[in-house]
Amino acid sequence: MQNKIKNICCIGAGYVGGPTMSVIAYKSPDIEINVVDNNQERINLWNSSNLQDLPIYEPGLDKIVQKCRGKNLFFSTNVKEKIAIADIVFISVNTPTKKKGLGAGQASDLKWVEICAREVAKYSKGHTIVVEKSTLPVKTAEVIKKILDSSSENYRDNNSSKSFDVLSNPEFLAEGTAINDLIKPDRILIGGDRKEAIEVLSEIYKRWVPENKILHTNIWSSELAKLTANAFLAQRISSINSIGALCEATGADVREVARAIGSDSRIGNKFLDSGPGFGGSCFKKDILNLVYLCKYFGLPEIAEFWESVVTMNNWHQHRISKLVVKKLFGTITGKKIGILGFSFKANTNDTRESAAITICKDLIEEGALLYIHDPKVSPEQITNDLCKKENKSMTNNTKNLEGEWCFIKDSKNVFEGADAVVLLTEWDEYSMINWDNVSKSMRKPAWVFDARSIVMPDKISMTDLNFWRIGDGFQS
Ligand code: UDX
Ligand code: ADP
Repeated sequence: MQNKIKNICCIGAGYVGGPTMSVIAYKSPDIEINVVDNNQERINLWNSSNLQDLPIYEPGLDKIVQKCRGKNLFFSTNVKEKIAIADIVFISVNTPTKKKGLGAGQASDLKWVEICAREVAKYSKGHTIVVEKSTLPVKTAEVIKKILDSSSENYRDNNSSKSFDVLSNPEFLAEGTAINDLIKPDRILIGGDRKEAIEVLSEIYKRWVPENKILHTNIWSSELAKLTANAFLAQRISSINSIGALCEATGADVREVARAIGSDSRIGNKFLDSGPGFGGSCFKKDILNLVYLCKYFGLPEIAEFWESVVTMNNWHQHRISKLVVKKLFGTITGKKIGILGFSFKANTNDTRESAAITICKDLIEEGALLYIHDPKVSPEQITNDLCKKENKSMTNNTKNLEGEWCFIKDSKNVFEGADAVVLLTEWDEYSMINWDNVSKSMRKPAWVFDARSIVMPDKISMTDLNFWRIGDGFQS
């Protein structure tokens, strides 16, 4: 097997494939990297001359794409051609939770991964290292290897032989900080059963990652480590959110509790911010995957333990919408409520599993009129997520309306006549709001609900606004 990698193909130009390949291209000018996707529209956006149009908003990504695109980084739909010339193929496609059939609601749907494996089997030439980048259930590598080995038989011609190594190389980047996470990773994890193949992949990362941060494991440990990392992180959020609710009931303050426990070096101070509930494409999906695996391997108690992390998160999101209704005298029918932030966290346009979806749906169900702002999420995305069309006329006339929403382009315009505003994403611009000015335009009694702890209480206390913030027993 040749050690010098000249050509990489990544199947899937999404939130993982796009940024990861951009950084590899940036750090490896001698390697040609082709990111392929069968979604032509997405590829057109990656190739757009206006870098504002890239399909993913991620700080720093545009500069890297600008530097590498057309030199050693290419985006196309030429799946066949780019697989054929690749030494390494990364599989970075979506693996949503299955909607029907065996394992529905918990197991990952591996349809797209399987299609990719068949494509690699068909179009690859010579020896190819196939790398699982998407988070996958344990033992997926075995499935990929079986598909590669058996279906490549169908495509073998007399003059060529095909062979494969399958490696697991899960991506730990978090959205919003993806470029930094990729450039300075805590670790690179490579699981596989052949040392030579692991070494070839390690050589790529060694260009910018210190060797002691490149961990080698067996393939199952690597797959399971990724699910476990996300399960532990999500569990931390559910834990702090559960304590936040207790703080509100007892007069304690979750920020103070978090600071106190975070000073214990065994616990650590990161990932302890109580919020509206975790979102994102990974946490829920990966825990449910873990739950499914535990059930499959006859460990129902462990399945129940991890499932409670998701149950707590669902409860917590609904708790916030119920609280808004309760504070507004038990009814929000026809009341105007501003929503600040729709993405699942700041610095991304991703809304997958965002707490805002659950909370907005609840408020709409209760009859509220929502004026939704987000600096990066489009009204079309919100329409998809809420499964409800925007009512654009709401900005002029609200007579006899209930249970509707509209998009507000400038956050300054969500306050006029509003009974309440609910802060759901920690975008920087929301921490600059001048509450004294804002308060003048709201309908009294008016409420500010801060589910992200970004409002300084002393900036509100000098206004006539009522204030609630997450996990604050003093204000409740
Ligand atoms: C996560 C993992 O962090 C990453 O390693 C993995 O590769 C993919 O899944 P991501 O979902 O992009 O990354 O974002 P993350 O920063 O982990 O946040 C997930 C959710 O938890 C967000 O909704 C965020 O707002 C919430 N969160 C995070 C909190 O509520 N409080 C915190 O202290 C941290
Ligand atoms: P992630 O967050 O894991 O990156 P995304 O949904 O953002 O997931 O991206 C996955 C991408 O993979 C999508 O753009 C989708 O079009 C692409 N994709 C899925 N299956 C295939 C396939 N067989 N060939 C090429 N692209 C694919």
